Amino acid sequence: MIPVSSLVIRNAEQVLTLGGAGPLRGESLRSVDPETRVSIGIEDGSIESVGRASGGETELDASGCTVVPGFVDCHTHLPFFGWRADEDAARLSGIRYETLHREEGGIFRSARLLAEASDSDALDFSLGLAGEMLRQGTTSFETKSGYGLTIDAEVRQLRLARRLADAVPQTVVSTCLAAHAIPKDRSAGQWVGEVAAELLPVVASEGLARSVDIYVESIAFALEHAARLHEAAKPLGLGMRMHADQLEDGQGASFAARWGFVSADHLNHTSLPAVGDIAASDTAAVLLPGATFTLRQNKKPLARNLIEEGAIVALGSDLNPGTSPIASMPFVMALACRSYGLRPLEALAAATVNAAHVCGLGDTVGRLSPGYRADAVVLGVPAFEHVCYRPDHDPVVAVICGGEVVHVAPGAEGRLRV
Ligand code: NIG
Ligand code: FE
Repeated sequence: MIPVSSLVIRNAEQVLTLGGAGPLRGESLRSVDPETRVSIGIEDGSIESVGRASGGETELDASGCTVVPGFVDCHTHLPFFGWRADEDAARLSGIRYETLHREEGGIFRSARLLAEASDSDALDFSLGLAGEMLRQGTTSFETKSGYGLTIDAEVRQLRLARRLADAVPQTVVSTCLAAHAIPKDRSAGQWVGEVAAELLPVVASEGLARSVDIYVESIAFALEHAARLHEAAKPLGLGMRMHADQLEDGQGASFAARWGFVSADHLNHTSLPAVGDIAASDTAAVLLPGATFTLRQNKKPLARNLIEEGAIVALGSDLNPGTSPIASMPFVMALACRSYGLRPLEALAAATVNAAHVCGLGDTVGRLSPGYRADAVVLGVPAFEHVCYRPDHDPVVAVICGGEVVHVAPGAEGRLRV
């Protein structure tokens, strides 16, 4: 890490500031345009100017490069411990995700792995992944619980998430996903009742999360449980999110939109009328093409309809050991284009300003605008579309997080003049 109090990024071939206010949807999404010959001035961790910047203490030569806001990964399952590659191999031989879940693999297995790991082993494992994410341009991310499945273990995972947040340069926001799998010794209703009455008040009083998530699926929870959690979360000032319509159409997206949830995530099976509900609401559609890719799902979200009807569309990695062992937002954006039909600049807006909005960080990160946190990625490509065009190529030349140069790719050190 190179600490600097003032930095100028100069000579970029393309700069995508994603300026404006609020999430980009409808007309404002269509008008995202690259700028040329602008410099970005950074002072004390914030963006000071975009345009003509005077000399900084340190200069980063971005000639031939594209500069974009730091990526915001608005849906991950960090912190967790350990992988489940054997389950993936089993799926590749035809076993379904739902079968592994019913046999107490899947989420139950990750809960066991986390319970058996020490705090420091779980933190080291998750820190390694946060470092990988940073080197690939992710300067803000979301964490979730959901591998606890008892009240104490959920609180422990949320406290681990807070220690992870304190240990990384990125901005981190936390979500309570206690309603992830039904604990074996409880009914869904009993568990949701305990979460609402016992866990959420602790979460709110200790500031352990800013939102509450629920996995609505026939192998997990139902809409009535989402309503119960919503009722408990609202007076505590916690927003609601939903894993919706991932494996079947459970009417989740439509419910989330009507009840004013912050987001509905996955949406593989969301119907066209439900797309209309999302588009007419302020509930963001969080698309997770890494999970679709990993699970080899043929059923994809109606992404073009979401965009064309004016929904707030955001992207996340869904980084988790089961359905999406994927940490790279450039790869996620490439998948979003390739497999969901997003256009490159739509994918960029979805992975920056709109994802920041989902995290409740829309006024501080996700844009290269004066006053925003100085999070930027210098990509070694002359135009952003190269990122989606060459998914196996690592395009990141440098990452600036909170005004600090936190990563310079090997061979690019000469671009930095202190
Ligand atoms: O977002 N499907 C629910 N939750 C995760 C997977 C969690 C896991 O398999 O460990 C998801 O896909
Ligand atoms: Fe998820």
